[in-house]
Amino acid sequence: MPLVTMRQLLDEAAKGGYGVGAFNVNNMEQIQSIMEAARETKSPVIIQASRGARSYSQDRFLYHLMIAATEVYPEIPVALHLDHGNSPETCKSAIEMGFTSVMMDGSLMPDGKTPSTYEYNVKATREVVEMAHAKGVTVEGEIGVLGGIEDGHGAGVDALAHVTDPAQAAEFARATGIDALAIAIGTSHGAYKFTRKPTGDILKMDVLIEIHRQLPATHLVMHGSSSVPKDLQDIINQYGGKLRPTWGVPVEEIQLGIRNGVRKINVDTDNRLAITGAIRKVFAEKPEEFDPRSYLKPAREAMKKVVAQRMTQFGQAGHAGDYAPLSLQEMAARYR
Ligand code: 13P
Repeated sequence: MPLVTMRQLLDEAAKGGYGVGAFNVNNMEQIQSIMEAARETKSPVIIQASRGARSYSQDRFLYHLMIAATEVYPEIPVALHLDHGNSPETCKSAIEMGFTSVMMDGSLMPDGKTPSTYEYNVKATREVVEMAHAKGVTVEGEIGVLGGIEDGHGAGVDALAHVTDPAQAAEFARATGIDALAIAIGTSHGAYKFTRKPTGDILKMDVLIEIHRQLPATHLVMHGSSSVPKDLQDIINQYGGKLRPTWGVPVEEIQLGIRNGVRKINVDTDNRLAITGAIRKVFAEKPEEFDPRSYLKPAREAMKKVVAQRMTQFGQAGHAGDYAPLSLQEMAARYR
């Protein structure tokens, strides 16, 4: 089937009461890992690329790899989503390239670093909604500011410095007409989210629950949702890596979020850890190897295992065949 829109995936997830993982990619092996995991678990899925990923892989390569994914795995509904678009221009270029969903992250200025004003965020996001919905493309907005910096994107602020205000989130969703809303509840991108297993003082699930109470019909998005499992950290360190002890977002907290309106869960770091651990292991155990396939195959397998596990934990497993894809034209007609 052709690429589907994220809106349709999330609407179906809301009906079924499950979440959909949105996994970041930069290359062919990562796309293959995700699609294999989706086939094994019969899952619909969101594949997302940041600005950094688009420039690393080059748009045309990424686009054709995604078309290949839809051809090789025709039974899997897959949306191609722009992660953290920094401006309406970036979102426009993604839509022109064939993305079926874009994130306009107006919580930061176009430099991708400076926290913006509420008024700027509404204006930029509204502009993208008008442009995208006319073409049937989904829009994710963000209110509140996430912690950390990834791929040069992020204010680098403390994760609790700009937690989303539920009343403002409700106002923002109404003012912009977005399909999905990313919220800040104390998570951050990358491996170093928490220095201990997070409890309610550092991971604000109560804020998420209140946002869902005020905005029951808006699909919520959890960014920075890698769980940073200890076993993946250990493999890296066992084979010469140097990761400091760290904690991510426990899967049971994500599941609590899914019971409270979270439909999209962003995961990148866990897959990076799995890939790096697998490659380090081959390098350490077989230093005579120099065929890239000798380490990229185990890397691909390790990432597939993590993705398949998340698909089961988020509840999307088994739902790939539930619905027929709507075209972009049909989605555009619905928005009108
Ligand atoms: P992680 O770094 O926790 O995987 O988060 C990724 C993310 O939120 C991408 O937008």
